[in-house]
Amino acid sequence: MCGIIGYTGDKKASDIIIQGLKYLEYRGYDSSGVAVLNDGVIKVAKKEGRIVNLERHLEEYPLEGHLAIGHTRWATHGRPSDDNAHPFISFHTRFAVVHNGIIENYLEIKEELMAEGVVFRSQTDSEVVAHLVEFMDKGDTKRAILDAVAKLKGAFALGIICVDSPDVIYAVKKDNPLIVGVTDNEGFICSDINSLQKFLSEVIVLDNDQMAVVGRGKAEVFSFDGIPVKKERIKLTAEEENALSDYECFMDKEMSEIPSALRRAIKFYREEKCFSKIDKDYLKKIRRINIVGCGTALHAGLYGEKLLNKFIPDVDVHSEMASEFRYDDVKVDENTLTITISQSGETADTLTCQRMVNARGGKTLTICNVPTSSMVHYADYALMICAGPEVAVASTKAFNCQELVFAMFVFDLALLRGTITPETYAHFCAEIDALPEKAEKALALREKISAYAARNFRRKSVFYLGRGMDYCVAMEGSLKLKEISYIHCEAYAAGELKHGTLALIEKDIMVVALVTQKNLIDKMYSSLAEVKTRGASLTVITPFADNPSLLDIADYIMEIPVTEEVLSPIISVIPTQLMSYYIARAKGCDIDKPRNLAKSVTVE
Ligand code: G6P
Repeated sequence: MCGIIGYTGDKKASDIIIQGLKYLEYRGYDSSGVAVLNDGVIKVAKKEGRIVNLERHLEEYPLEGHLAIGHTRWATHGRPSDDNAHPFISFHTRFAVVHNGIIENYLEIKEELMAEGVVFRSQTDSEVVAHLVEFMDKGDTKRAILDAVAKLKGAFALGIICVDSPDVIYAVKKDNPLIVGVTDNEGFICSDINSLQKFLSEVIVLDNDQMAVVGRGKAEVFSFDGIPVKKERIKLTAEEENALSDYECFMDKEMSEIPSALRRAIKFYREEKCFSKIDKDYLKKIRRINIVGCGTALHAGLYGEKLLNKFIPDVDVHSEMASEFRYDDVKVDENTLTITISQSGETADTLTCQRMVNARGGKTLTICNVPTSSMVHYADYALMICAGPEVAVASTKAFNCQELVFAMFVFDLALLRGTITPETYAHFCAEIDALPEKAEKALALREKISAYAARNFRRKSVFYLGRGMDYCVAMEGSLKLKEISYIHCEAYAAGELKHGTLALIEKDIMVVALVTQKNLIDKMYSSLAEVKTRGASLTVITPFADNPSLLDIADYIMEIPVTEEVLSPIISVIPTQLMSYYIARAKGCDIDKPRNLAKSVTVE
């Protein structure tokens, strides 16, 4: 949801900005731009479309200079266009601004500034910031920025440069991520820690309501009151190389990393004794658990809900999409735990729920991939999924690791509360150890699924079906397919299909069924017979590949390794991820950057 970056140093600043923006492109790719300060003049280049358009433009019309800010956009206010692309320049061209977030009161400020004669050149909310800062400027740039920020409502991470400060970038953070880093003779700001790995070994993560003044080799942090704040430097440890290497795209690479990510997550959870860091007395007292997330993370949460219901029967469990949770009158008291799940730890809807719960005095636990994220920072407890950087918009390895860590947490909680025996716990631990190898076996379906995709990529409509735990995977499989292949796709609890949606099933409709729970085979068979009778093409993902009923009814069987049933969603999702990938590839889609989407959605 927009990425921002800034650089000051000896190198050609626009080159560094382009390199950095490429890592940030997953945050939005409607347009991009750069502003460079050179010899007391700010020059801007902005281009609609992918960063490569900006890069080509800069090859033709280079911008020299050693201080620059850049932006890649996911449009909220104002359609994608050159004019609406960032950076924005103030009315006397003394300031340039890049923004990630939403300025809620921009219309009010815009009217005030227009009444003063300021001319606006875009339809965005962000442009007001550039003019407002210049309007507030009485000769002290830092003061002007703080005064302008005091007038802004909403969420914002800002990068600002000013002609009066030829070596300095100003970074401002409220509710959207912003990282700062320096080397001996350079300074950086950026939305995302992974994008700085190439340049830095340690970073400073800004908190809300903080501003940084970043120069060559030095960064000073202040509160919005202008008071200096001492900040810890965080070492960057690359868990996975976040360059593409020999892979066709990041989704391809990230699916291949599922086994190693699972191994790392298991090791970290155990060696760091993650569960022991949560207050035991509190865990024993919990009476209610809320689970909140968006998109893929929500589906991992639904799996967690099924596990909690099964293994901790005396706790009420309620899972909800974050964008709705905040409007529900959900109960939060001292015996309620709210679990937020998020790959990025920055998704605005989920973060807002976490804050809401904390404000009401409830405890929060986040299951998250990014240790420096806002969700980890503000949660009472955090369980890291250790999936490594995930760049493709469509989440894959993070989902497998979210499910895994949720399952490990549930087994630990069940043991603590005495709802499973130590023997059952030991059995689950052994089954968890076997997961990475099973993931490798499931990934071996690549070739078969690639051929399958070549035959099926022209389908217009797909339905994913499952019951029980398989339903969570059906939902994730369906989301994955629609987000990257643009094929209409829905997930249904298999038993529910007959109550209306069966009317849509006809010849050429593709149905993909998950069948991993032995006691549900017969019930699934009945649902599958209903769709097969109506002419649908049927694909079954199952470890029971020699089951005569399934063999009889399926057009395609994707066999996955036999897995402890309560853990099977961690493996059974892999063929659905591969199917989406190969179908999107056969259709020629831009897999890593699907239309209209962004990986990290930092606006509500
Ligand atoms: C966006 C992405 C989804 C992702 C969701 C939640 O909508 O396109 O792929 O699942 O955000 O992201 P999070 O970082 O909170 O897991």
